[in-house]
Amino acid sequence: MQNKLNELKAAALRDIHKIDSIKSLEDLKIKYLGKKGELTAILNGLGGLSKTERPLIGRVGNEVKAALTAALDSRLSELEDAELQKKLTAETIDITLPGRRIPAGRPHILTTTENEIRQIFGELGYTVAEGPDIEDDFHNFEALNIPKDHPARDMHDTFYVDDGRLLRTHTSPVQIRLMEKGVLPIKSIMPGRVYRCDADVTHSPVFHQVEGLAVGEDITFGDLKGTLELFLRRMFGAQRKVRFRNSYFPFTEPSAEVDVECFVCGGRGCPLCKSTGWIEILGCGSVDPNVFQAVRIDPEKYSGFAFGLGIERIAMLKYGVKDIRLFYASDLRFLRQF
Ligand code: PHE
Repeated sequence: MQNKLNELKAAALRDIHKIDSIKSLEDLKIKYLGKKGELTAILNGLGGLSKTERPLIGRVGNEVKAALTAALDSRLSELEDAELQKKLTAETIDITLPGRRIPAGRPHILTTTENEIRQIFGELGYTVAEGPDIEDDFHNFEALNIPKDHPARDMHDTFYVDDGRLLRTHTSPVQIRLMEKGVLPIKSIMPGRVYRCDADVTHSPVFHQVEGLAVGEDITFGDLKGTLELFLRRMFGAQRKVRFRNSYFPFTEPSAEVDVECFVCGGRGCPLCKSTGWIEILGCGSVDPNVFQAVRIDPEKYSGFAFGLGIERIAMLKYGVKDIRLFYASDLRFLRQF
């Protein structure tokens, strides 16, 4: 009986080492140690043995069982390791492969143009102020010396939100809000979106303006001229000629429009400048005393100037863009040029 057990042990250990899958290892375990297994049968048969044989065979039997269990367990963990290793090799990711490049974005040309304007006025000591896109009649018109029946309202092609509210038609209402705060002196630019019911190659229902305002004691029209000349030289180059031409705005007196030498023909005359050699670039003037009165600033003590320019217009002229809609079409072929 003892020999039989030792043979069984030897055969089982040989089998265990030959096994190369977890499934067949389980089958083998059942073959020897299962309920109807070979070793189980011997151990169950102990009762039929003689009193002298029983303890000996019992001990050896249990030793064999322990040895087989240990061999089965260690073979199982070997096979599991091998399986994991195989899986790891099969599913390896080659991290040395170069990744797909995500193209970097860049500021939109209108943003760049606005930033240039902010930069130049920033260096001149101007702060930046903002106001709401949805305005009331008072700030967009009334306080800017444009009463209800004023013909200048026709020029503004206003989008009305409801009875009292509208989409601001220019950034000038922000100068009213700024002056209402009553903190003087003021030296600010006010960039923002503006809205007019108008659309063609040079007009968009939404576009961008930068308003400028300086208020203090002894601010003259000469200060306005000097400031804008400096700005335009920085923006368009020192060699480009600029001129002030008298004009009319309800909120400035005197008022002017500023022209720069035509970008296309350099002043000789072409279709862009309608043969005049000049391109109108902005509106400006000294703050009208009626505007000061509307915001309770004493026009006897204070004076100031304001100007307003269109960012799209400046970008169109500077870069020769013929259709304003290109700015908003999100066409990368257009945007990447800048
Ligand atoms: N608000 C004017 C416009 O949109 C521009 C302007 C601003 C003119 C300030 C003079 C002074 O047309």
